[in-house]
Formats: sequence, C-alpha cells, structure tokens
Amino acid sequence: MFNKENQDQMITKDLSVFSLIAAEKDRQQKGIELIASENFVSSQVAAAAGSVLTNKYAEGLPGKRYYRGCHVVDAIESLAIERAKALFGAAWVNVQPHSGSQANAALMMAVLQPGDKILGFHLAHGGHLTHGSPVSFSGKLYNACFYGVNRDTGRIDWEEVAQKASLEKPRLIICGASAYSRDWDYVRLRAIADEVGALLWADIAHPCGLISQGLLNNPFPYCHFVTTTTHKTLRGPRGGMILMGKDFENPLGKTNAKGMLQPMSVLLDAAVFPGTQGGPLEHIIAAKAIAFHEAMTSDYKAYVLQVQQNAQVLAQGFMDQGYKVVSDGTDNHLFLLDLSPKNITGNQADIVLEQADITVNKNLIPFDTTSPFVTSGIRLGTAAVTTRGLVAADMLLIVEWIDHLLKHMDDPMQIQAVKEAVNKYMRKFPLSQVDNHNLPPS
Ligand SMILES: Cc1ncc(COP(=O)(O)O)c(C=O)c1O
Repeated sequence: MFNKENQDQMITKDLSVFSLIAAEKDRQQKGIELIASENFVSSQVAAAAGSVLTNKYAEGLPGKRYYRGCHVVDAIESLAIERAKALFGAAWVNVQPHSGSQANAALMMAVLQPGDKILGFHLAHGGHLTHGSPVSFSGKLYNACFYGVNRDTGRIDWEEVAQKASLEKPRLIICGASAYSRDWDYVRLRAIADEVGALLWADIAHPCGLISQGLLNNPFPYCHFVTTTTHKTLRGPRGGMILMGKDFENPLGKTNAKGMLQPMSVLLDAAVFPGTQGGPLEHIIAAKAIAFHEAMTSDYKAYVLQVQQNAQVLAQGFMDQGYKVVSDGTDNHLFLLDLSPKNITGNQADIVLEQADITVNKNLIPFDTTSPFVTSGIRLGTAAVTTRGLVAADMLLIVEWIDHLLKHMDDPMQIQAVKEAVNKYMRKFPLSQVDNHNLPPS
C-alpha cells in the first residue's frame, strides 16, 4: 500500500484530497507552529500509520482476538506494549485507545459508577474537558468538582486541593492539564488521595515526553493510573494509552467466575474494548511502537531537553518585553501569555499571528472574565518548532515577531512583512529533514 507507484495512482485518482494534503504540507513547511499539542512525526511513524495494517480487524488483545489472521498484528501490538512499559517503567499498558479522550473515557468507566464524585483541575485554569467539564461525557456522567490555581502565583495550591478533597470526598482525583506550565507534586497528591480514600489518576497527555526522559516528576510510583496521548511531546501518531506503574486488585469488588477479585488491568482492558471502543487501529499501534522506540534514543533525550530550554527562553523573552506569563515561567514545554494588561484578547492575537503564518491557540487564563471564544490569553508550546530544529536563539526572534505583530495589529503592511520574514526563515528548516529524524542509518 505504501509505495510510490501506489501513492501516485491514488494522487491521480483523488486529486481533490491529495492537492489539499499538499497544501497542508506547504502550510506546515512555511509557518511557525507554536500550538502546544502539535508535533511532526518521523517518516517511519508516518509510513506505519499509512500502511496495510489499516485493513486488519483485531478486536480483543494479542493472543485473545475475536478474528482470525491476527498473528502479525499480535506481534506488533505486543511490541508496542513492551516498548511503552520499558519507556515509562510501567507494569501494565493498553495501547489501543484511539485518542487521549478515549483513554480517559475508558479509565473512568473502569473506575467509576455514574454519579460518582470526581475532583479535577478546572478547565478554565488549564484542565481538560474530559476531567469533568459539563460539556463532556465526564461532566455529564460523573459528579465533578474542581480545584484551581492561586490568583497571585498562577500555581496550584496543594493545601487548597487537600481542603477540597477533604470536603468533597471524591472517588477519583485527577491531576494533569492542557495548559499548566508547572510540574505536579504527585507525592503530595497521593497523600491527599489516601487521606480521603480516593484513587489518583494522572493525565500526562502534554508533558509525557519530558516525563519519559526524567525531566519532570514521575507520576508512576504515586498514581494508581496514568493516561496519555501519543502525539504531543511524545511525537508519535495521534492516539492515546492507559498505563499503571503496578497492577492491583480492583477496589470495586468485581470478581471473576471463580469469585476471585479481578486485577485492575482486566477491568481497564474491558473498559477499552468492548467498553468504549471496537476494533483497535493496528496501523496506529504500529506507529506508536515506532515512536516509543524513537523515544528511547539519545536523539530524543536531546530533543526534549531542547524543547524544555526553548520554552523557558521563549517565556523569559516575553517577560523581558513586558508581557505577563501566567505563573511567571514554565517547567515544561508550554505556557500561557496573559494579554489582558495589553488590552488585547486571545482571539485578536491568534488571528493576527495566523495572518503572519505563526499558529497558536487562544486560551482562557485563570480567572478570565471573557468567554472561551474571546479569551484573554494565548497558549504557546515548543514541541513542534524544536522538532523543526529551532534552538534558543530562534525563540528570541519569535518573541520579536510576535511582539511586532501585537503592536501593529491593524497594519497589513507590517503583518505582510513579518509573514515574509517567517516564510523565508522557515525555509532553513525543511519538513523533509523532519521526515528523517531518528531514522536508522541506511
Ligand atoms: C490533558 C489532556 N488530556 C486529554 C486530551 C485529549 O486528547 P485527544 O485530543 O487525543 O482526545 C488532551 C488534548 O489536548 C489533553 O490536553
């Protein structure tokens, strides 16, 4: 399926789609990608994701499938599981969730009954929709309450989390975020969970690449469950997974046919399939296996170190220009720029930046008084630009361009000038180089 002749044939057959794919590649090549959840995969990850494995149905788990002809995908999925375990030092992994949200839905289904109380980080302070927002299944099925950041520091106050937990007595405490630039105190969180008899779940979708290399605190010894996406800092295909540092007897009292308490892993596997998904995407699982392998190289370690350094330099660069960064810095790959002191909305900012081929997303800042469609901030992340090869000095240039755009939002000539400078600059970092990162030497 994935060979040039075949691809050319497809291109001739469906020009409408392939010309759009070419346009998207051109957009990615020309621009500066600062959306914190995006990245560029290697050509071997892309090849696996576009391979014949997409043809195969494989409901079930390796060695326990509902269809015949699964010996090859069994080997692939087993490899993905073993590599994920080795990468994170986990005892158990399910690599089938189609996305981070799917992983979270399955986890909650395994652990909770409808109506159970959950305590998560508030969406408006940087949390994720699937952590109890009323517009998501998680807020509709479960009884959600939230903790947030301190107004003055922009950081989570663990004492406040402890008080909230003690007041609410949740069944599950959720840590992890989409837009929080600081590290998590898993030791403290586990103590809080133990005090109130709650289970502790870390959603490390964003910083998992940094966690895998020991650049941030390790949730595995302290959290009962960990979920993640595979496509952000981990630089794999779009997807999710569920992991446990160690398996344990399920505390829900669920027994097998012999009356024995089932291990939590059995409940989690069942919550993925048949609980919330059908057939696994074996082409994506193969691409995940490759990404896990790439993440075990010294190149990847150097990459995430650069991601972290770039984020720190970018945040400091903005602060030096008089901008407010929520929490005054970052520990990971992202941060929120609070534009309210400049009387600019996130919506105005992300529109003008896009006009100059710099992509970011507008984002609520903690205690925002605007709506999610307007917002007072933008979220910036360095995972994608670092894959393109940009280093600390380039971050200062990005600060200069963004600052210039925000000061000349109504001046099309200035916007055009920055766009041309950005396009010219990014030609030095071709996507074809990105295609080859971490490929074994030929
Ligand atoms: C913390 C967190 N969890 C889960 C998700 C959901 O991932 P997906 O978009 O793959 O469903 C995201 C996505 O941004 C996230 O930031």
